[in-house]
Amino acid sequence: MIESDVILPNQAATERLAAALAAEARPGDVILLSGDLGAGKTHFARAFINALTPAPEEVPSPTFTLVQTYDAAAGGAPVQIWHFDLYRLKSPDETLELGIEEAFGEGISLVEWPDRLGALKPREHLELRLAITGDAARHATLLPTPAWQDRAAAIAKAFA
Ligand SMILES: Nc1ncnc2c1ncn2[C@@H]1O[C@H](COP(=O)(O)OP(=O)(O)OP(=O)(O)O)[C@@H](O)[C@H]1O
Ligand SMILES: [Mg+2]
Repeated sequence: MIESDVILPNQAATERLAAALAAEARPGDVILLSGDLGAGKTHFARAFINALTPAPEEVPSPTFTLVQTYDAAAGGAPVQIWHFDLYRLKSPDETLELGIEEAFGEGISLVEWPDRLGALKPREHLELRLAITGDAARHATLLPTPAWQDRAAAIAKAFA
């Protein structure tokens, strides 16, 4: 795995990274959003979802619902985006009730607190790790598996 680092000096930079990744996303993609409380996972998801939906979406944090879905389009084809927040998950098996198989198979998935997936973490994914480095600044690390390697490298290069 070749990882890439991206400096995000402000919220707008996080939104631009989200839009750049959204432009490359396709059905079956899973993006794991890791990082501490308040690192910007939901902020990223909001911008990602809005990049692929025709009308502005509110995108509430799925803190209590654990998942929210959105009708979107990627590369001109309709696709559902599944936004998970697994912080309050009790066991990985609970994700099956949330529809994780359909999400990972056919949708585009954004997963906050992906460590909660345990063995259900999909083999192919892009992990985006966010770290707080200042009031508004964040450090992002892109950790792609082979399916995301080229796309992640190109996006990180465009941000350098
Ligand atoms: N560069 C940045 N990128 C993203 N968010 C930023 C940035 N700078 C400041 N913020 C702020 O950090 C906060 C991030 O909150 P957000 O809800 O996205 O975090 P989170 O990682 O989803 O937290 P949680 O683990 O509680 O779900 C927001 O208030 C946002 O405005
Ligand atoms: Mg969140």
